[in-house]
Amino acid sequence: MKTRKPSIDFPVEIVSEGEVKVFVPKLEAFVEKPQDYAPSKAPVFYNPVMELNRDFAVLAMQAYQRMVNREITICEPLAGCGIRGIRFAKEVVGVKNVLVNDINEKAFKLAKYNIELNGLSERVNAMNEDANFLLACYGAPRKRFDALDIDPFGSPTPFLDSAIRAIRDGGFLALTATDMAPLCGICPKACLRKYGGKPLRTEYCHEIAVRLVIGCLAATAAKYEIGINPLFSYSTDHYLRVYAILQHGAEKADRSLSKMGYILHCFKCFHRETLDKNFRVSHGGKCPECGANLDFAGPLWLGKLSNKEFCILMEKEAEKRKLKSLRRIQKILALIKEELNAPATYYVLDKLCDEMGLPVPSAKKVLYLLKEKGFQASLTHFNPKGIKSDASAEEMKKLLQMTVAA
Ligand SMILES: C[S@@+](CC[C@H](N)C(=O)[O-])C[C@H]1O[C@@H](n2cnc3c(N)ncnc32)[C@H](O)[C@@H]1O
Ligand SMILES: [Zn+2]
Repeated sequence: MKTRKPSIDFPVEIVSEGEVKVFVPKLEAFVEKPQDYAPSKAPVFYNPVMELNRDFAVLAMQAYQRMVNREITICEPLAGCGIRGIRFAKEVVGVKNVLVNDINEKAFKLAKYNIELNGLSERVNAMNEDANFLLACYGAPRKRFDALDIDPFGSPTPFLDSAIRAIRDGGFLALTATDMAPLCGICPKACLRKYGGKPLRTEYCHEIAVRLVIGCLAATAAKYEIGINPLFSYSTDHYLRVYAILQHGAEKADRSLSKMGYILHCFKCFHRETLDKNFRVSHGGKCPECGANLDFAGPLWLGKLSNKEFCILMEKEAEKRKLKSLRRIQKILALIKEELNAPATYYVLDKLCDEMGLPVPSAKKVLYLLKEKGFQASLTHFNPKGIKSDASAEEMKKLLQMTVAA
């Protein structure tokens, strides 16, 4: 492998990630003040913290390829230095070709160089277009990609329509959202504008965020008579990711839309419940546990966030690879498998105990007691102190009081 420095007019350095080596901007050269966020100060975007995101992307892409069991074509329309697309070509078995693209000319040149550096010029192409323009060129039948990875700054919604149209029937779409302030209810108006759903600043806002993104994907795909099937979704650090299969057909779209609805929440007593699109609510918008007014989040996705078999495929792929974050990947996958049949929303022990003036018990102890009492209960990857359960807020609070008394 040649490691000659590319003729790029800004400081770069070589980094190893997964099985590739790529030139990236030398981030410390672009930090002027300590509070500067280096990845967005550099002339080409590169964020080393997103290695976990890219590791998961490689595993999910491989799991998808194993599922369909044929050669796949992939496009990464917002590629930065190209690291993600290059990893797909190098690390995923059964990839026919990858198209990486970025509107930034410096990113395009660096990606092109990195493709050569990894000896992938025959299977990876770089382009320098606006992502929506590029995707529109691949929107016709037989031109479409098998898989697309949309990894933008902030929200993926400006690229959703063209991405959905550029994926073949049965194809695979991966989305990143880093605009957690709107999605978690800090800027609700921005969330409504971008995702068409109202967020809610609750202790389980990260799950609401994932459900809002999937809901927006389902609603956008439905316009084109396309249904969605989420295979793997998670939220960690400062972002969330959604991986879904797109299936063509009006019935598939209708089935997806039937999984949309609302989450109702009581800020007084922690009660929460889901409400499907038919609005069959018996208590007139008042909390059935304490009588206070309920607030709501949505419309959002009330269906499953991940698929067990797909997570197992990803686990198998993870075991085969030398990934720096292997332990963390395995932990997240194990939690996601555990929680995928649990009800929507979770209780956060710190929050409940804080309100009740109680010491915080271990999540494992609460889990054990809930199961002993016959409730459904699981941990969640969304929060180390989070518990998913069908126990009501009142029952949860009683149980917490018992753990202190015991
Ligand atoms: C978060 S970065 C991508 C990081 C990359 N996917 C990775 O894993 O390292 C987002 C990229 O989108 C590019 N971009 C922003 N708007 C674009 C547009 N309309 N069309 C194409 N690229 C765009 C930016 O130049 C930036 O490189
Ligand atoms: Zn209440």
